[in-house]
Amino acid sequence: MSYRPILTARIGKVDPTSLDDYVAHGGFQALKRALALGPDAIIDIVTQANVLGRGGAAFPAGIKWKAVSTEPGPKYVVANADESEPGTFKDRIIMEGDPFSLVEGVIIASYAVGAHQAYIYIRGEYPLAITRVQNAVDACYQAGMLGERILDRRYPLDIEVRRGAGAYICGEETALFESIEGKRGFPRIKPPFPTQVGLFGRPTLINNVETLINALPLVQHGPDWFRTMGPLDSPGPKLYCLSGRIRRPGLVEAPMGTTLYDLIYNYGGGVTGSGELGGVLLGGAAGTFVTADDLDVFMDFGSLREIDAALGSGVVIVFDTSVDMKAVLRRIARFFAHESCGKCYPCQLGTQRQLEIIERLAADRLRPGDLQLLSEVGQTMTDASICGLGQTAHSAIRTALKRFDFDPSTGHFARFGPPSGVQEALA
Ligand SMILES: Cc1cc2nc3c(=O)[nH]c(=O)nc-3n(C[C@H](O)[C@H](O)[C@H](O)COP(=O)(O)O)c2cc1C
Ligand code: SF4
Repeated sequence: MSYRPILTARIGKVDPTSLDDYVAHGGFQALKRALALGPDAIIDIVTQANVLGRGGAAFPAGIKWKAVSTEPGPKYVVANADESEPGTFKDRIIMEGDPFSLVEGVIIASYAVGAHQAYIYIRGEYPLAITRVQNAVDACYQAGMLGERILDRRYPLDIEVRRGAGAYICGEETALFESIEGKRGFPRIKPPFPTQVGLFGRPTLINNVETLINALPLVQHGPDWFRTMGPLDSPGPKLYCLSGRIRRPGLVEAPMGTTLYDLIYNYGGGVTGSGELGGVLLGGAAGTFVTADDLDVFMDFGSLREIDAALGSGVVIVFDTSVDMKAVLRRIARFFAHESCGKCYPCQLGTQRQLEIIERLAADRLRPGDLQLLSEVGQTMTDASICGLGQTAHSAIRTALKRFDFDPSTGHFARFGPPSGVQEALA
């Protein structure tokens, strides 16, 4: 708890609309340092620090940066600010509270990989974030820091802000490319991977907002400093999004690998409702449920994988024992059936069949064989869907059934008591 925020240090202190104030609060010092280091050294630092992507897939950023840097131009950098995962709001807070830091991160990444055009793709339902980031980009152009030069170096770079139109699938990197290209947001088959064939068919570095802003302190303080926080296989500062039945919901910045207990009880002030922890959804709708038995788990990518859970984008949604878990699962199943883009059958049909069974479960009308069928549908989606949406559409439901002691004979989850009004809100 003695940790001093790094990624969110300026939020609440800096005027997010003022370039001058950003500079007065240490802004563009990282870019200055990056320009002095040069592209190869920046990529070495990101690689040695073992920064794992914060958008959910935990892919090593250094590998992507290196891969794009060795490809011929033209190439692109894309900041993924679509942030549509239920329960995630960390990128919004960065963009609203410290938008210049994202612009600085995009400039550093573009310079490192040799891109002269970058895009920031922001969730359409984030009007303030869009305004603030656009204002930051405009201010940098007006100050002569974008366009022909970045800071005092002749390096042409243009940044364009694009807004999403409300589709969860457009956060998936290749669907996002299609969207920027003006097409319907359908994911592409991979390989080829974006580092070789990305936006407009060109090599593209795409990173989450949080991943990109990690580059700022990293180039200033180096990989050894970065690795002092959290486990060596997934180090650094981390933004966790606390919500649900918790006394102090909100954004928490803590070292990667902080325990779930610390997040809920020390940072979050404990559980509301019945006061007793029923379960926690980690990683959002595409994530996994854990129980009070898992409170000692370290909240980093590797530790959570070991217990069949996922950090995802850092979502921590708390449910007390009075919550109607069947209504929660119905909400999740509806979400996936609604957001499936329909490009591949396992997900197009699977999310619908899953929803039908979960609707029956929530209405206490399960038929014989339904749970077996649900498991088979879920397994098929996980194994055969072409993108992460279908591959994770069953995770929360599977882990709820596995961990919350669902009793098919009574149709109840043993860990959850009678519904408490949340049921109506979720219906
Ligand atoms: C359905 C779906 C939605 C996604 N939404 C987002 C998102 O909103 N933001 C994000 O950064 N990554 C999202 N991703 C992950 C991206 O495809 C990609 O892995 C990420 O942008 C890479 O950045 P990173 O390496 O910095 O994590 C999503 C993936 C899927 C399958
Ligand atoms: S898995 Fe689902 S969201 Fe992804 S391409 Fe297939 S139908 Fe579309």
